[in-house]
Amino acid sequence: MRRNDPRQYDELSAEWWRPDGTFAMLHWLARARAGLIGAAPRPGALLVDVGCGGGLLAPHLSGFTHLGVDLGATGLRLAAAHGVVPVRGDAARLPLRDECADVVAAGEILEHVPDWRAAVAESCRVLRPGGLFVADTLADTWISRTLTVHIAERVPGAAPKGMHDPALYVPPRALAAECARHGVRVSLRGLRPRFGPLVRWLTRSRRRTVTRDGDAEVMVPMRSVSVLYQAWGRKSG
Ligand SMILES: C[S@@+](CC[C@H](N)C(=O)[O-])C[C@H]1O[C@@H](n2cnc3c(N)ncnc32)[C@H](O)[C@@H]1O
Repeated sequence: MRRNDPRQYDELSAEWWRPDGTFAMLHWLARARAGLIGAAPRPGALLVDVGCGGGLLAPHLSGFTHLGVDLGATGLRLAAAHGVVPVRGDAARLPLRDECADVVAAGEILEHVPDWRAAVAESCRVLRPGGLFVADTLADTWISRTLTVHIAERVPGAAPKGMHDPALYVPPRALAAECARHGVRVSLRGLRPRFGPLVRWLTRSRRRTVTRDGDAEVMVPMRSVSVLYQAWGRKSG
């Protein structure tokens, strides 16, 4: 399979809901993303989860109608089993009407689409004025490419081979500029895993990692946005 082939997620579908598995970091990131989202502004407020995968954001949300859009049928089935309203679709052409969403979450998706600018434009289009956009993604820098592809893919079990195409990584300032062009002024901050949980996970004391770190925030903010970073802000108007 070529790099970033979405069919990889079907092959790895058993991993989605294993917090000690290959997708452990997605669990950690979902928790960190939810920290920026907070509680629903009103009961049933609509949160659109772009590239929702297996729906890992679901357990961390409260009060939202959680609608997930993804290309992958397998991930969507798992997401639905966790309370997500599944919608098959492309992040670059969301099958949703303008300004329907109170929150748009784009977690670990922008670095997987051929045209991240189109995915941002679509995310901003479906967001209502005053609504919140929250994204996390990988930066288009040599250190990010080195860590996430050249190193992580060589550490057994750390990252599935070919999961990322570094040519698709997203420059932080360009992301902020693109959001601003669509009426969303974002703040940026870097994220990194805490050392202890990362080492426990990498050294395969994974059961211990889950037991000890399962309820704790594993990802912590940092100033540098040169590897993994979050972008969040509200739509004007
Ligand atoms: C790294 S996973 C992130 C899943 C989820 N957001 C999370 O953080 O757990 C990337 C997801 O994006 C989906 N995906 C890739 N390209 C897509 C596209 N063009 N439109 C919608 N979903 C896409 C994949 O099927 C996969 O479920």
